[in-house]
Amino acid sequence: MHVYAVALEKGGVGKSALSVNLAAAFARVQLRVLLIDLDAQANATHWLGVAPERVRADESTLGLLMGKPLDQCVRATAEGIDLLPAHPAMASLPMHIAAAPNSGLFVLRDALSHPLPYDVVILDLAPARGPVQATALAAATRCVAPVQPEDLVIKALGDLVATVGQAQRLNPQLRGMSVVRNKYSVRSAGDQAYDHALKERYGPQLLKTVIPNRAALRDSPGLGQSVFRYTGADASEVRGLFLDLLEELMALDGVTA
Ligand SMILES: Nc1ncnc2c1ncn2[C@@H]1O[C@H](COP(=O)(O)OP(=O)(O)O)[C@@H](O)[C@H]1O
Ligand SMILES: [Mg+2]
Repeated sequence: MHVYAVALEKGGVGKSALSVNLAAAFARVQLRVLLIDLDAQANATHWLGVAPERVRADESTLGLLMGKPLDQCVRATAEGIDLLPAHPAMASLPMHIAAAPNSGLFVLRDALSHPLPYDVVILDLAPARGPVQATALAAATRCVAPVQPEDLVIKALGDLVATVGQAQRLNPQLRGMSVVRNKYSVRSAGDQAYDHALKERYGPQLLKTVIPNRAALRDSPGLGQSVFRYTGADASEVRGLFLDLLEELMALDGVTA
């Protein structure tokens, strides 16, 4: 089972966009996919057409991490992927996790350690470090980070690279991290300098596929659809880009459809 933790300690960079659309892309190539929404803001849950206020707290990610069996919490979505939804009560998730043995480092890995009917699990994280990110990286086989050519984003990436390096010492299954340029446009000389620095510093981790700003990714969440179901402008271009991204990840990790 391949477990992708989509992380970066900066909001609005495209973690939920990547989580939802990579999950939908994996489903399109006939893999069995579970998306776990680890962000109390529940953006991925909304994006998949599920209203978090209609989810019972014990049937959300909170339920799983409190010990409820996974199959009693997940729900199917119209994308062909299973979702473990977020719930507003997950605002207290960091405290719950930190109170578990070993500061909760292994709660998620343990919850996913039983044989599960999935090929791929995607973890959509909140833009925060702390116990939730730590338990996600302890369960992950790869970390994926979306970036833009901006100072704070590049700084957050540097912090995440260090965090992933530490997590690899506890989790030998964590193969490394991949960086995806999302909402990406290089217009000014300043942008070019950031792009250059990104290539110099993170060249081997940088995936080739670049996702530009596109209306399909701005507008599809409001309809509760991934770009694979969304039919508006530029959806087919964005679908192609997500399938390219998928191919890169599958080649890196030896995922076979
Ligand atoms: N490539 C893109 N083009 C246009 N809008 C995007 C793109 N990627 C993400 N968005 C939009 O930007 C906002 C923030 O993205 P989101 O995935 O929620 O970020 P994060 O999860 O990192 O906070 C969302 O409204 C999303 O629809
Ligand atoms: Mg998000």
